Amino acid sequence: MTPDPYATGSPRNAAIPASDQPTAPYLDALIAYGFRGSTRFHVPGHKGGAGADPGLRSALGSSALLLDLPQDLEGIDLGPSPTPYERAEQLAAEAYGAERTWFLTNGASQGNHALCLALAPLGTHAVVQRNSHASVIDGMVLSGGVPHYVAPTYDDGLGMAHGVTPEALGEELSDAAAEGTPARAAFIVSPTYYGLAADVAGCAEVAHAAGAVLVVDQSWGPHLGFHRDLPPSALALGADGASTGTPGSSAGPTVFGPTLGALVSLPVAVIGAVAAGRLRIPAGGLIGPLVLAAALTAAGAGAVPPGWLLNAAFAVIGLMVGLRFDRETGRRVGRLAPAMLAAVVGVILGCAGLGLVLVAALDVSFLTAYLATTPGGLSAVLAVAFAGGADTTIVLAVQALRLLLMVLAAPVAARLLRPR
Ligand SMILES: Cc1ncc(COP(=O)(O)O)c(C=O)c1O
Repeated sequence: MTPDPYATGSPRNAAIPASDQPTAPYLDALIAYGFRGSTRFHVPGHKGGAGADPGLRSALGSSALLLDLPQDLEGIDLGPSPTPYERAEQLAAEAYGAERTWFLTNGASQGNHALCLALAPLGTHAVVQRNSHASVIDGMVLSGGVPHYVAPTYDDGLGMAHGVTPEALGEELSDAAAEGTPARAAFIVSPTYYGLAADVAGCAEVAHAAGAVLVVDQSWGPHLGFHRDLPPSALALGADGASTGTPGSSAGPTVFGPTLGALVSLPVAVIGAVAAGRLRIPAGGLIGPLVLAAALTAAGAGAVPPGWLLNAAFAVIGLMVGLRFDRETGRRVGRLAPAMLAAVVGVILGCAGLGLVLVAALDVSFLTAYLATTPGGLSAVLAVAFAGGADTTIVLAVQALRLLLMVLAAPVAARLLRPR
């Protein structure tokens, strides 16, 4: 049987499949902290989304705002070692086949700066691919290292530059040595912006033969090594250091643009509502789109409804509630005011009590828990939850569960209560 090049520990590819790392300690720590519902006394930029612009909330979602935490928090990046942050770095090192990994807070650019400062310090010489990203050039300026540029191959047919070949790299390294300024490091790019991977193993061989370390800017290939049909990662091919980041890969966050969001959301709303109506599901106008959207999102085809669509929907809800008030309603409210007021206060206090139970059980904010347990029009509660920054998913889940139980329990309750 042919050995699987993707297998763990394979000489062709040291990177391991993501399925072999079922834990995400840093994300878990962020979630535990972000969703615990406590009041935040952080710097103003990290208040968990309170008072955030509705447009930003609709683009990112309430959960992302809750997880926007500052650095240096006990139990996340501070505390007994290894902290969740350190454990996540160890897992990343293991996944990429590195001895050590440092997470970057300023993208791959910062990684390139750090690599230049560490491996091409003041007055030392290094060979640098001519079409490197500006951050490598900036890194050399910062470090004071002296670059010897090596040209990439040029594709006349396509009119674009690719990577450097081992031959070109070897020649430049020899030239630097012949000039009495041997290079300590070689900085190359693989894959390029256009997706062309260099012969990293060949480059590593010539660099090491010349006494230089090989550093690969793998910003466009953080996914390399994670699938059997992709080239291995640079570290697995013998590079001594690499920088990478998610913006250049398919693993980075992908958010549907507003127009696409509307194109997906509108048909989902209509199809879901019509289907639920046909199936005679109670509150089908709400439950149908809800179930359909949840199924699509679970299948990876979700979309963010644009702000204007949300505002239009909220306007319709407001209109519906407002149109129910007529003169007779006003008169009845006047007559029943004291009793209604007492009932409203009672319900509010009851919901607050239930909310406290939910806070303890689910580790959610009090507002989320309160709105989740508030009886009444689900759509109106959702609109308030959205505007107030509560976790709409939790509110919806609890409310939908209540609705479902009510629907299931209604026939039984009616039978039991019917006078015999
Ligand atoms: C080859 C290469 N290296 C580094 C970077 C910098 O990445 P970041 O934006 O994450 O700092 C880029 C960005 O486009 C790039 O193309």
